[in-house]
Amino acid sequence: MMILDPPHQHHSPQEHDGEHKDEKHEEFGERIRQDFPILQARVKNKPLIYLDSAATSQKPRQVIEALKKYYEEYNANVHRGIYALSEKATMAYEHARFIIARFINAEQHEIIFTKGTTESLNLLAYSLSKQLKKGDNIVLTQMEHHSNLVPWQQLAKESKRDGKDIEVRFIKITGDGRLDMGHARQCIDDSTKIVSVTHMSNVLGTINPVQELASLAHEHGALLVVDAAQSVPHMKIDVKELGCDFLAFSGHKLFGPTGIGVLYGRKELLAKLPPFLYGGDMIHEVRFEDSTFADAPNKFEAGTPNMAGAIGLAKAVEYLQQIGMENITEYEQELTAYALHRLQEMEGITVYGPPDAAARGGVISFTIAGIHPHDVAQLLDRDGICVRGGHHCAMPLMGVLGIAGSVRASLSMYNTKEDIGLLIAAIHKAQKMFS
Ligand SMILES: Cc1ncc(COP(=O)(O)O)c(C=O)c1O
Repeated sequence: MMILDPPHQHHSPQEHDGEHKDEKHEEFGERIRQDFPILQARVKNKPLIYLDSAATSQKPRQVIEALKKYYEEYNANVHRGIYALSEKATMAYEHARFIIARFINAEQHEIIFTKGTTESLNLLAYSLSKQLKKGDNIVLTQMEHHSNLVPWQQLAKESKRDGKDIEVRFIKITGDGRLDMGHARQCIDDSTKIVSVTHMSNVLGTINPVQELASLAHEHGALLVVDAAQSVPHMKIDVKELGCDFLAFSGHKLFGPTGIGVLYGRKELLAKLPPFLYGGDMIHEVRFEDSTFADAPNKFEAGTPNMAGAIGLAKAVEYLQQIGMENITEYEQELTAYALHRLQEMEGITVYGPPDAAARGGVISFTIAGIHPHDVAQLLDRDGICVRGGHHCAMPLMGVLGIAGSVRASLSMYNTKEDIGLLIAAIHKAQKMFS
């Protein structure tokens, strides 16, 4: 593992010199890039400029090597083999749980491995639905990804058939893409049982006030669920500090493998939740007539888990911890401010979400007057630039913004100002083509 010098640890006499600071920041991104083999690739004979990390992140060599080592040296099923290889795989799998728990300041048994954020949220919606009664409501926001909307919406639809009539309410957003906290206070009342919000919007980049929402939810006896799919890769997450009851994220957005994700839940709550999937590895005792279930987290991990995925994700977490989440946030904030500034000074560009980089992450959605987002994405691809164009799995939010879709450039710690410069140049080119 290369040891990276965090941007703020190079104090020198010139530390207040803007130019020097710029150099240090550039160096930070450049050095991280070296760990990501794919970033050396060429697309259409141009260097790859990857600006779609909100969809999935690229993987450092350390993670790729950990996966290879697992398959080459100790692949075996976990929790069942009474032989050394299986014991080694089990220990590595459970150690991965420990590393991930510590990363978000949770306890090991509060970490459930899932396929990703989507499965984590579906698990919750299914299991929590058993605790809801007639007249209860669930509060979401207008900026949710479909995976934190459709499961609750379908739960509510189903509840109508059972005569429970669960209502789903949506906290509105303000003109600059923040949560309207006045409206949040109107939506959350004593019949609210669940408040489920995204920590960072995958369209607007907005970072929501989770602590305030947790207090508000708890004042009314409701649970707070956090969709942290977009925030976990970019900032330090402490579930105790956030005050949340559940938190979900995906490994593939956190520089880990695909097919692995996490659901954190407070242990008292997990103890009371019924399982989501039934089968092997999640039981205590099975008889023909009935079964009893294991304690959490096993209760929620039916079947053979994604061992390699968990081990790879733990390696990604260790990699991030060596860099330091604070250093990543600091670097990305400057990069985001730069990108926002460059886009905002262009003609014909509308940028969505908070204009201020401190209130948001590096997910930057914009539209270009007269050019469809899909056309923009295709044109940029000709220059080796990967951005996403479309509704970003947030169709209701597109309606609120009054657009059919947007172009989304999403930044990560391995991006540089040079990447942004190339993005801006490619947008200029697209504008010229369509003028
Ligand atoms: C905010 C947010 N929530 C949930 C998801 C779903 O994540 P996954 O597809 O990894 O389950 C995404 C993916 O883009 C997201 O951005």
